[in-house]
Amino acid sequence: MNRKEAEKRILSLRNQLQEHNHNYYVLNKPSISDFEYDMLMNDLSVLEKMFPEFSDISSPSQRVGSDISNEFKQVEHKYPMLSLGNTYSKEELVDFDTRIRKLLPESDIEYVCELKYDGTSISLTYVNGKLDYAVTRGDGVKGDDVTANVRTIKSIPLSLIGDFPPEFEIRGEIFIARNDFKKMNADREKKSEQTFANPRNAASGTLKLQNSSEVAKRPLDCFLYYVLGAELNYENHYENLSKAKDWGFKIPPHIMICKNIDQVYNFIQHWDKERKNLPYDTDGVVIKVNSLKQQKILGFTAKSPRWAIAYKFKAEQALTKLLSIDFQVGRTGAITPVANLEAVFLAGTTVKRASLHNADQIELHDIRLNDFVYIEKGGEIIPKIVGVDKSKRQENNEIFRYITHCPECNTELIRSEEEAKHFCPNEFGCPPQIKGKIEHFVSRKAMNIAGAEATIDLLYNNHLIQDIGDLYFLQKEDLIKLERFGEKSADNLFESLEKSKIVPFERVLYGLGIRYVGETVAKKIAAGVGTIENLMTASYETLIEIEEIGDIIAKSIIEHFRLEKNIKIIEKLKKAGLQMQIDEKENENLSNKLAGLSFVVSGVFSNHSRDEIKKLIELHGGKNAGSISAKTNYVLAGEKMGPEKLKKAEKLNIAIISESDFLRLIQ
Ligand code: IVH
Repeated sequence: MNRKEAEKRILSLRNQLQEHNHNYYVLNKPSISDFEYDMLMNDLSVLEKMFPEFSDISSPSQRVGSDISNEFKQVEHKYPMLSLGNTYSKEELVDFDTRIRKLLPESDIEYVCELKYDGTSISLTYVNGKLDYAVTRGDGVKGDDVTANVRTIKSIPLSLIGDFPPEFEIRGEIFIARNDFKKMNADREKKSEQTFANPRNAASGTLKLQNSSEVAKRPLDCFLYYVLGAELNYENHYENLSKAKDWGFKIPPHIMICKNIDQVYNFIQHWDKERKNLPYDTDGVVIKVNSLKQQKILGFTAKSPRWAIAYKFKAEQALTKLLSIDFQVGRTGAITPVANLEAVFLAGTTVKRASLHNADQIELHDIRLNDFVYIEKGGEIIPKIVGVDKSKRQENNEIFRYITHCPECNTELIRSEEEAKHFCPNEFGCPPQIKGKIEHFVSRKAMNIAGAEATIDLLYNNHLIQDIGDLYFLQKEDLIKLERFGEKSADNLFESLEKSKIVPFERVLYGLGIRYVGETVAKKIAAGVGTIENLMTASYETLIEIEEIGDIIAKSIIEHFRLEKNIKIIEKLKKAGLQMQIDEKENENLSNKLAGLSFVVSGVFSNHSRDEIKKLIELHGGKNAGSISAKTNYVLAGEKMGPEKLKKAEKLNIAIISESDFLRLIQ
């Protein structure tokens, strides 16, 4: 086959596969067998390998992702991704309708009702019919660029068909259907991997995976429900969605135009009953004013559009028997009561355990063993008990007495006035606290010691580690004596430990597990004190001077270093050669070339992340400002800079420079 023929064949295969994809994943109507599909795909892959000059990231063969680690760049949304106001009753719905009618007097109003899909929201931008980039909601103003992962989702078209506008954005919800979720979790369980709590967590967790070839293996799906852009000439939301459907998108299948709020309410009641028969989770109905002209008049509040609202379904409940209560001890010593229940089916899964939060909750609901309790699935990892059916109570169900001693080490529990939870104070002698602290230390966001988490139990049970410092003084001959611990595992562990010695100070600090010192606080502290010695000797007054450090955190730090055992741990870590101070070089002033200049950085850059650029500005003596004003000297504009900013910069006659202009400035 010559080049010309190959190109023709490649294009034809791509078109055919795209159509079959659409039939299968969007329309649910496959038109060829899986085998035939695989054969076509195989042909395409072979040809693309033989003729790499025709490669195209929008090719259907590119859905497999790659195992290059994704770094999620932050991207500013062109239009902020707002949330919706919530309503829970017919009255609140009527209020919404009244508000709208007041703002649009004497107009006919149509509402579009759609289901509210319980997944994770996504914004897709298409340029000239090709998926250009995909961004998560983030904080609503900027989100993570997850394009590589989204490209693997089969129901999201990489290329569009028909008369699509040259550039537009479309938003929707990425989700995992209930059956796929069950299969996926069963599979994970088999491989001893941690299972996901619910389809929503599984979807959002998957979307943030760093390896897109792993994402490609997960059953993500997507409904698209909101089209935006300057070049859309349709009259209403319904038409927007119908067009989106023609271009190849999977739009919400259950959608209804309503003339009044009673019709809206009928839709809600119908789906409140029926939703359990849908293959995916929904948590309400979204009601949108159909006319785009009317939407424009109604506009937005700071948080949400005035032209749309969500009606939230009441969470499904189930009634079941409370068999016993376990008490779990966390790494900080906090005690969490967990109920063991008679297995019951609730919203797609079988539930056997539920959270009881703390002693107050048990007392408040007067929950007793053998009671019949109502459980509900909230956003939390496990369902919670929300009440008791007292009519079913047996006379001999005794009032539940909360434990007074730690179930793991038998130390008497304490409960301070500010805390809802009981605590086990035996910080250095209570096994789950000791192991929990080590698990935290080796976790990805702290020291990232690969493979260590799985062996902590083994090492601890064999008295090889008592605290995080011991990890660095393990001896190979002790390790290989352990059951199922070969030479290779030992070498791997040592290699990971060695690698962790260059982890920056701020992450070591986070890994220490000082109460209330999370990732962000650790960064602020590291920048504020510079070295571990300074932190250990810092006074309360010095600590609260640091940005974001208040009374509680300062006291917690002082308390931590008052304990001799914690000082010993620091000594071990120092001896092991961990980073116990900030890397001065990283923050050393590089030049004063930008002294006195104020910059506003906006958009996405090709060689640096936005934060890196900002850091460079500071390292060269310049200043970063959040918004453009007359005092701004330069606007450093990347790709996809917000149009409002651009307008403002032009209006104030401020120099707009590119990334390469900037790099020249500091060279
Ligand atoms: S419309 C400006 N439609 O609900 C309005 N949202 O709290 C844009 N959601 O963040 C949203 N199903 O993630 C819309 N059919 C639907 C939806 C929906 C689920 C989510 C979405 C949004 C949240 C609102």
